[in-house]
Amino acid sequence: MKHLFMGCVAVCLMAMVSCTKEKEIVSSVPAHIEDGMIVLDTPEREPGQESALGMTCAPLDTVHVAFVGIGGRGYWAVDRYTNIEGVKIVALCDAKQERVDLTNKMLTDKGWPAADEYVGDEAYKELCQREDVDLVYIATDWLDHTNIAVCAMENGHHAAIEVPSAMTIDECWRLVNASEKSRCHCTILENCCYDFFEMSTLNMAQQGLFGEVYHVEGAYIHYLAEDWSYSEPWRLDYNIANRGDNYPTHGLGPICQVLNIHRGDKMDYLVAMDTPSYNGLKVAKELRDTTVCADGDHTISLIQTAKRKVIEVQHNVYAPRPYSRMHQLTGTDGFANKYPIEQLTVKSMNGHDELAAGVKDSLLQAYRPEFVKDIEAKAREVGGHGGMDFLMDYRLVYCLRNGLPLDEDVYDCAEWSSVQELSRISLENGSMPVKVPDFTRGDWDKIDGFHYAMK
Ligand SMILES: NC(=O)c1ccc[n+]([C@@H]2O[C@H](COP(=O)([O-])OP(=O)(O)OC[C@H]3O[C@@H](n4cnc5c(N)ncnc54)[C@H](O)[C@@H]3O)[C@@H](O)[C@H]2O)c1
Repeated sequence: MKHLFMGCVAVCLMAMVSCTKEKEIVSSVPAHIEDGMIVLDTPEREPGQESALGMTCAPLDTVHVAFVGIGGRGYWAVDRYTNIEGVKIVALCDAKQERVDLTNKMLTDKGWPAADEYVGDEAYKELCQREDVDLVYIATDWLDHTNIAVCAMENGHHAAIEVPSAMTIDECWRLVNASEKSRCHCTILENCCYDFFEMSTLNMAQQGLFGEVYHVEGAYIHYLAEDWSYSEPWRLDYNIANRGDNYPTHGLGPICQVLNIHRGDKMDYLVAMDTPSYNGLKVAKELRDTTVCADGDHTISLIQTAKRKVIEVQHNVYAPRPYSRMHQLTGTDGFANKYPIEQLTVKSMNGHDELAAGVKDSLLQAYRPEFVKDIEAKAREVGGHGGMDFLMDYRLVYCLRNGLPLDEDVYDCAEWSSVQELSRISLENGSMPVKVPDFTRGDWDKIDGFHYAMK
């Protein structure tokens, strides 16, 4: 059923063909060429629909959570939530009964009450009808993220969505519109924003240690070789069918926060290039008996911001090379790099020389955001990619319980996820620049910088 649906997505995309004299542009929303750049239409807000920038909602004493999609990722999210104060797990939903059974067993083994069960591809619709749910936590595969999140918001629940949150520009707008209309939060579960190096260097950038940061790099470089044969089929099938950076948000999230994207700057336009599919095609032939794989082995997207800064993001899940999210920041007065080795230079401390390991480590520790200092030990103990998953969950619950704006809002969801389709459009049009939609519809400079809201 899922595979058929994936085919349908491709067919729907084909249906959205904007004809110009120069070129046919295949995109999920109407598009045209203007001044040598591909421009996608921005839908109008409906009457009564308002910006959700800085949106706050009534504080929740207890956050009642329903999980949809409790496979490899969702199961461990439920596990982490049992370590967070002020949470009640009310419902579990999965397409497969065995995933619900397994997760409820984990809850009861820990002394938690079993959660109500919803089983089936569309069981989330019934779940969303419940009135006692505050947050729908979505960790299904990519194709259902938007439908489930929109259903949650339309029924008055906040939505938290695994990465990427949406797979097309049209889906990005659906998330934005649903949040703006319903006044429910919609957040992206981008755990890499909460890794320790990323948070410390964000704070250092905000305190001016790197001067003006003007070039940032992020990536998802992860050799999935052994994973393809035993993991669920959806990711390989998506990559076989779709060219572009199919997993952009791990690299993008933290560097967009450094550049204050839609909080003073915005992504303006994107240009992408990719290589042929070598190892991807080999896997596709071996496991799916197909002779094509749309996703190139290595994809690079360059994004120019409104303030002429440059974002570079890369995707490669096929090469036998070490794992890397890059996370590199270059500024007028300093430099930070996480992969393959952590490096810091701070001109005011050591000129252009790299800081010695001991100095680097104590600086990183000193620049942890305040909230992290309070909870770092527990985060490392509970874990989830070394603690960043717990910190992400902790912040979401903290903000909901205190009625604060979320760290990652619906515009982050849309902007970071949109790079999938934007990169595909650029690639399919000879690396032509594509204007990045302004999902805030003109409000990208209304907030002064990225901050963690605190009570
Ligand atoms: N942030 C991270 O570090 C990280 C790591 C791994 C995966 N992920 C993301 O998490 C998501 C899930 O990945 P995974 O590895 O757990 O995949 P998975 O295939 O192991 O799990 C997905 C689960 O969703 C269920 N499901 C699918 N459609 C459903 C529907 N309509 N209703 C209810 N249940 C449904 C499946 O039965 C399965 O149990 C993906 O978006 C992935 O990109 C993020």
